[in-house]
Amino acid sequence: MPVTLSDFEIAAAKQLSPDVLAYLEGGAEAEHSVAENRAAFARIGLLPKLLAPCAGGHTRTRILGAPAAHPIIVAPMAFQHLFHPDGETATAMAAAAQDARMVLSCQTSTPPEDIATIPGRRWFQLYVQGDYDTTMILVDRAVTCGAQALVVTLDAPINGLRDREVAAGFELPADVRPVMLDVLPQPPRPQLQEGQSVVFDGMMVFAPTWADLLRLIKDCPVPVIIKGCLRPADATRLIEAGAQGIIVSNHGGRVLDTLPAPITRLAGVVNAVAGTAPVYLDGGVRRGSDVFKALALGAEAVLVGRPVMHGLTVNGARGASQVLRRLRDELEVTMALCGCATIADINPDAVTDFSGTGS
Ligand code: FNR
Ligand code: LAC
Repeated sequence: MPVTLSDFEIAAAKQLSPDVLAYLEGGAEAEHSVAENRAAFARIGLLPKLLAPCAGGHTRTRILGAPAAHPIIVAPMAFQHLFHPDGETATAMAAAAQDARMVLSCQTSTPPEDIATIPGRRWFQLYVQGDYDTTMILVDRAVTCGAQALVVTLDAPINGLRDREVAAGFELPADVRPVMLDVLPQPPRPQLQEGQSVVFDGMMVFAPTWADLLRLIKDCPVPVIIKGCLRPADATRLIEAGAQGIIVSNHGGRVLDTLPAPITRLAGVVNAVAGTAPVYLDGGVRRGSDVFKALALGAEAVLVGRPVMHGLTVNGARGASQVLRRLRDELEVTMALCGCATIADINPDAVTDFSGTGS
């Protein structure tokens, strides 16, 4: 039986077809960022406080102002039917069982109405569409289905180059569809003239602008959180524009290679935002000690991606639930051994430089 997140990763790799595995694990180009996301956590050491009273400690906290049992959130991930016949439904059940928030991807392969019947707090991840009214169709549907916040992903206005995925010949099977996007009106494709660029004239014409984001924040009935920010100056401008949270992320290394590991950028963003909004982190979280390190450097909570899909692959809702539970158990042990009885006790003085081995 798999126990650690690494065990689940190995077990999932044995079960998935090579092309789906390449889609799940793969990153952009040479996958330096994928590796660095994990290596960067290993370069941070822990500094326990001795004899700190920890009896009665707990992981309870607040996320976006609401009570939470612990600071672990399921990251938005597309097309979960690729990994298990129960898809997003199983992930939502696992999240509910573990008191974890789940972010439903706007590329969900399960209708949000089906997920809405499952208990639990959920956020909805949005890719801004080329047409504003079309974007708002998605937002309205998500909010009607109970989304309590909108996570707007800004780090992937176009797809990156995923060499491993292409080499493996990954294609979406006919029975796994982005069911929310499939029913949207499609904007007319621009007719490219001789000498025009597919990227700049064909695709970036649909990319969101600051004006689009301001309008979206004004019209959105739930708080807007921005995913994919690595620069302090972007973070402060986003908060000034009305965003109510920032997710420091490099999209799990899946979009643009050699983006730095989010854990190395977190403190800079936290410092710039200066308490005006919560800051979250994702990318490479595989241990409870990684969660601890992110909180020590100022994150309110972390999001976890691939490991939840490893659990889903191996054993559906139960496997995803085991992954979330294990991460929380490891966080509790780390807290106790570091002398932190509560999440509020996890401060920057709990971490230090460490010449880790890189994995
Ligand atoms: C993702 N991610 C993602 N992000 C997003 O904003 N919208 C999406 O639809 C998806 N889809 C998606 C699919 C799959 C298979 C993976 C693995 C990831 C990125 C995700 O939310 C998150 O940023 C990273 O996965 C975090 O890194 P780790 O935890 O996987 O290392
Ligand atoms: C990905 C896109 C769907 O990371 O966000 O696969």
